[in-house]
Amino acid sequence: MNRKRIVSGIRPTGSVHLGNYLGAIRSAVALQEEHQGFFFIADLHAITDSQDPRALAEHTLTTAALYLACGIDPQRASLFVQSHVAAHSQLARLLGSVTPVGLLKRMIQFKEKAVKQGQEASLGLLDYPVLMASDILLYDADLVPVGEDQKQHLELTRDIAARFNRIYGSAGKEVFHTPEPLLMPEGARVMSLTDGSKKMSKSDLADSSRINLLDSPDVIRAKVKRAKTDSISGLEFDNPQRPEAHNLLSIYQLVSGKTREAVAEECKEMGFGQFKALLAEAIVVHLAPIQERYRQIVEDKTYLLSVLRQGRLEAEAVADATLCRAKESMGFSPVL
Ligand code: TYM
Repeated sequence: MNRKRIVSGIRPTGSVHLGNYLGAIRSAVALQEEHQGFFFIADLHAITDSQDPRALAEHTLTTAALYLACGIDPQRASLFVQSHVAAHSQLARLLGSVTPVGLLKRMIQFKEKAVKQGQEASLGLLDYPVLMASDILLYDADLVPVGEDQKQHLELTRDIAARFNRIYGSAGKEVFHTPEPLLMPEGARVMSLTDGSKKMSKSDLADSSRINLLDSPDVIRAKVKRAKTDSISGLEFDNPQRPEAHNLLSIYQLVSGKTREAVAEECKEMGFGQFKALLAEAIVVHLAPIQERYRQIVEDKTYLLSVLRQGRLEAEAVADATLCRAKESMGFSPVL
């Protein structure tokens, strides 16, 4: 029986944080057992923000190493670099022709970034979701594990697939398979440590707002200690007046592996001081084996490159066939 397909990506921006891990990487790792996984380093997406050409290749490799350290198993899933599989850019070009600009302008991420960038907002930023649709549709993905911030882009992917199928599909024969987003019931929206109403983000200028997977134990302890709190005694989930308490408890629940009920019971009478010490240690303990594996992997560059080469070959085989199918449906002349 064919395994269902999952596809997910992460931008190589230099830091991978707890939000990326708890929101997306963790579910990709869990799903790879029973699904066929295609995971990639989204370097073509990283260039839509200002970026340092001297660091892109290195960040691409370190992000791949972190994916592996978090548990992506190259025997089960294909791990590759997005720009190494040319079909991603090529299909994006084709999908662009069925995607109304009006829909792209409505994307929250575009609007947020465009406000900051004004006249300098690029075409790459606007068509970012079209490239994402290409990433996903190339592999006939069934499920796409992402954090909540990407849900709107997934809905657009479904819309683009439906438009393309309507225009170029024939009766009973779809060109693209329509994927479903997969959001973790907990962890899909990990919030900033310095403001419980903002998501934890790579682009936040304050490093103290996030826990990076490679932060040292001392840095983790210091960041948790400084995390924003409130002055109410006792800790509780789900109180809209207390977003920081909810966020820190949720992180504790996920990294400790305890149930929500157990955490609520354990922490209901704690003050933030006592709880923060507990939380910091739980994060340190959870990340220690990931950090250890990461160090081993980055030191073995031959291994890392061989994984990415193998992943690229596996991805290319599937992606090129889908691209061919899409071009054929649009009536392109075959390559001579
Ligand atoms: P990126 O690199 O911003 O983030 C990688 C993944 O982490 C999730 N995430 C979060 N989840 C929970 N809480 C947070 N605070 C948090 N911050 C980030 C993101 O939702 C994402 O799943 N456009 C994507 C990369 C991408 C992609 C794709 C993903 C490119 N093509 C195709 C899936 C399928 C992005 O910017 O991820």
